[in-house]
Amino acid sequence: MEKTIFELSRSGRKASSLPPDDIEGISKNLIPKKFLRENKADLPSLSELELVRHYTHLSHLNFSIDSHFYPLGSCSMKYNPKMNEVVASMPGFSKIHPYQSEGLSQGILTVMYELEKSLCEISGMDRFSLQPCAGAHGEFLGMLLVRAHFRHLNQKRTKVIVPDSAHGTNPSSAHLAGFHIVSVPSEWGHVNLKKLEEVLSTDVACLMLTNPNTLGLFEKDILKIAEKVHQVGALLYYDGANLNPLLGLCRPGDMGFDIVHINLHKTFSTPHGGGGPGAGPVGVKTPLARFLPTPWVEKKENQYTLKYDLPDSVGRIRSFYGNVGILLRALTYIQTLGRDGLDKVGQAAVLNANYLFSKLKKTFEAPHEGPVMHEFVVSAKPYLKHGIRALDFAKRLLDYGIHPPTVYFPLIVEEAMMIEPTETETKETLDHFVQVLEKIALEAKENPDLLHEAPTRTPVRRLDEVKAAKELRLVW
Ligand SMILES: Cc1ncc(COP(=O)(O)O)c(C=O)c1O
Repeated sequence: MEKTIFELSRSGRKASSLPPDDIEGISKNLIPKKFLRENKADLPSLSELELVRHYTHLSHLNFSIDSHFYPLGSCSMKYNPKMNEVVASMPGFSKIHPYQSEGLSQGILTVMYELEKSLCEISGMDRFSLQPCAGAHGEFLGMLLVRAHFRHLNQKRTKVIVPDSAHGTNPSSAHLAGFHIVSVPSEWGHVNLKKLEEVLSTDVACLMLTNPNTLGLFEKDILKIAEKVHQVGALLYYDGANLNPLLGLCRPGDMGFDIVHINLHKTFSTPHGGGGPGAGPVGVKTPLARFLPTPWVEKKENQYTLKYDLPDSVGRIRSFYGNVGILLRALTYIQTLGRDGLDKVGQAAVLNANYLFSKLKKTFEAPHEGPVMHEFVVSAKPYLKHGIRALDFAKRLLDYGIHPPTVYFPLIVEEAMMIEPTETETKETLDHFVQVLEKIALEAKENPDLLHEAPTRTPVRRLDEVKAAKELRLVW
């Protein structure tokens, strides 16, 4: 393992070259005694070059989207164009403070206003709140809006329907907002209309749906589903984590969804890996807009203002205005690509996924024929007879310099490997990925121990996954 910076330390070495303190006694006379330390700080002593090499070397040990292919898709790690970072680091944006007056915040208020308008146009919704700071946070706000809507109508509706193929955050968000969850079985990810009808009643507040679903399949009965949900007076909620393949093709607002959240990191290339910061704006149709969090950004005679006076609002769900740095990156992406560019994003995401799916169907088992949208699921079940599981494939990929895909999700597919190449990967990268997986599949049959021992070429070998998550060792 790499030595820590403390182990590299040698007394007397230093990396700084500060001029001597030329105001005599500054520390003794100006700083109150109680704030002065008594013992020297235990800081490592290294030369500047040692320091630079140490951290540069450490940074090379990391897997990162800038250096490695992530077939794990937009969910966790997607390429973020550098232009987004350039704009976000402009001092006019990076040095503003949320307590600045509206008059001095016209730039960032313009960004928020423009982003809201763009998201409305892209999704077919009427208004957006930019406050939620993750997809799951957006879902929670969405459920608060559902609750506020039925309270306003004086209707007691206690249930939220969630298909069994949904992301785990869906039932959690609905539960946190006080609803009972009704799970409906899906047929390979698609909502089973008959089963849905059986659970629909005037007790139901909402159906939460992801489209395309977690198998990458488009919900072909979406218009019928919307009709049935609305017939009992319930609302239709769109988990917009998988919006990127729909860009330029169709809009959730036109499919009958009443509330949507969009994971900006998934569709609009903002950072997300490592837990954020993220953003999960929530869009609604006009009748629900009155419940959105305050403040709203409004435009009056070319001046942008913050509107707080909204008596039916569910209130604020995040300090200040959300993760505005992320919102800024998303708008940069949208405006850099423009309408035509965004259409191509959707097309390329779908093309890349189908290309890989058609190749990998030969090596793995596919739960359905396809075609798929932006992602697909294959199963490593055929390799169980060699003692090899999806996890072993995932670990061996690391030895070949490729990040593993999501494994064991969705739960409805045994030994699932969920693969999402995203729109930014080239055909050469995808072909290389296929070749590597075919090679590992051969190893699985001929020398399964190679896979059991993997990864062998990473700084840290195979971890006990549960222990590593429960017993964090974060200090030296
Ligand atoms: C379908 C789906 N819904 C919700 C979420 C939750 O989003 P977040 O991780 O931003 O909370 C994700 C994950 O990205 C997702 O894939």
